Amino acid sequence: MTDPSVMVTAMRTHLCGELRLAHAGDQVTLCGWVAHRRDHGGVTFVDLRDREGVVQIVFHPDDAPEAHATAQELRGEWVVRVTGSVRERPPGMANVDLATGAVEVVVTSVEVLNRAETPPFVIEDRIEADELLRLEYRYLDLRRPEMTRALRLRHEINRTIREHMDPLGFLEVETPVLTTATPEGARDFLVPSRMFPGSFYALPQSPQQLKQLLMVAGQDRYYQIVRCLRDEKPRADRGLEFTQLDVEMSFADEEDIVSVIEPLYARVVRETQGVDVTTPFRRMSYDEMLERYGSDKPDLRYGMELSTLTDLFEGSGFAAFAKVAADGGVIKGLTAPRGAAVLSRKELDKLVEDAKGRGAAGLVWIAVEDGRALRSPVDKFLSDEERNGILDRTGAVPGDLVCLVGDRVDRANVALDGLRRDLAARLDLISDERWEFVWYFEPPLFDWSDDENKWVSNHHPFTAPLTDDLEPRTAKARAYDLILNGSELGGGSIRIHDPQIQERVFEVLGLSHEEIESKFGHLIRAFRYGAPPHGGIAMGLDRLAMLMAGKDAIRDVQAFPKAQSGADPLMGGPSPVDPAQLQELGIRVIEPARSEGGR
Ligand code: AMO
Repeated sequence: MTDPSVMVTAMRTHLCGELRLAHAGDQVTLCGWVAHRRDHGGVTFVDLRDREGVVQIVFHPDDAPEAHATAQELRGEWVVRVTGSVRERPPGMANVDLATGAVEVVVTSVEVLNRAETPPFVIEDRIEADELLRLEYRYLDLRRPEMTRALRLRHEINRTIREHMDPLGFLEVETPVLTTATPEGARDFLVPSRMFPGSFYALPQSPQQLKQLLMVAGQDRYYQIVRCLRDEKPRADRGLEFTQLDVEMSFADEEDIVSVIEPLYARVVRETQGVDVTTPFRRMSYDEMLERYGSDKPDLRYGMELSTLTDLFEGSGFAAFAKVAADGGVIKGLTAPRGAAVLSRKELDKLVEDAKGRGAAGLVWIAVEDGRALRSPVDKFLSDEERNGILDRTGAVPGDLVCLVGDRVDRANVALDGLRRDLAARLDLISDERWEFVWYFEPPLFDWSDDENKWVSNHHPFTAPLTDDLEPRTAKARAYDLILNGSELGGGSIRIHDPQIQERVFEVLGLSHEEIESKFGHLIRAFRYGAPPHGGIAMGLDRLAMLMAGKDAIRDVQAFPKAQSGADPLMGGPSPVDPAQLQELGIRVIEPARSEGGR
């Protein structure tokens, strides 16, 4: 809580939320919003709210008839100023759920500063209003204590970051919002230029190139709490706009980056959750992470590690798995503790549909019964050796559920990752009080893109290769991601500072010399003027705040978020503009087809 004494103004002596028993007897003047009004035996009680909390104020008809008469007019969300004295509430009337619940303010005078229309929803934490309505009236939604807590949390995170970075020699440097396209891999938001008709700025997907240029510029250590914009479909943990803690360091390797980020994140958890997390955080190679969890952002608050059983099914009587093994696929699985005991037959069959929905060929479930007996639609195809092998490899015991997927390794991993998250939630294996950080290192340098039919960067094209190997199938990167409770919190890499290696990477990515020159010529040129070895990271702050606030969507921790559709219900954007503005920009709008036009 803010030190209330600094918030005294000409109009008030105290804040509603600060009053405690120690204030009993004090004369106070408060300003705030009427949260509730009720009458009891002629006495009027009002809950008065400001940013710091709510306090009960009392209007007596006999002691302060004028104020009491005014109180009869007060309606929800009117803005008032009251003067009165703080007193301990009568015996038995204290409200232990309220920080100010031991006291009340007996009002001697009241002034209505502003009236309010009836709000479209009740302003309280048990909110049932539709999210779009809340976003349209965000200024009312933000009056709710829960939202105030979210804003304060973000403020605290930003403050902690600044306090952490400054003594480590990082300069906070602002980079432009009007810039040119960057290679983060999403679509750019473009801004037409009036002064250069037909040309466009791009809004930054991240300040990636600029922070590297700051290293070439000799600035050594940069950070910025910076807004990034990416035109991709919003999801719970992904927005069109989001904020990064963006960091770049010169003469640094992976350990230097880790040693800046780990204590900061441990501190954020300590200060916001009161929990001491163990450092150093866990680490895995990317390959090990995928092998063990089927995901590059596993939730380590629970077990259910994957096992690989491919060799067990070579030449198996269970033809589907034998074929997968022969064709170079994998048979992987997980064991859900007590899953067989908890899930019904119908729910087990639904797991198969879910796996197919995630793109896998199917899923085999095996319920382990007493005496190592197995119950499964495929049991009749299994040999004793396979039955024993399944139990030994997965460590399953009676009551457990084994789920196996046979497919191409990437598809098996996607299906099992989804299944693992789903079962952990359904079997109640997730603890909200655990903060399981894990880093991965050494991901592939390149990924094959089926959509683009070419190799693309796994991170971005400025990422240094781990070794001399630039063969796209095998090359690894000096990149890393930090994961918390199954969410990707941030990622970065050591960069290429040798122009020749940079050009070879661009070649693998299929960029012609002309394309390299037009897209990245400025960067390559800069690198010819003495680029220091450097590396960095960018941490998503909306996701961090979302996890620290225990929310499911980053919208819940943003002051003025877009709706899930990407529209802005508060300001009404995106909106058509005045034809004169378009004329000035040299832009003619092609009328969108009807189906695309709506929101
Ligand atoms: P990257 O693209 O991995 O890396 O982004 C870093 C982190 O930013 C967060 N993030 C998002 N959060 C909300 N909505 C989004 N649309 C969104 N996109 C990303 C994630 C992610 O881990 N320039 C590189 C970093 C570097 O190499 O230094 C970059 O931006 O938490």
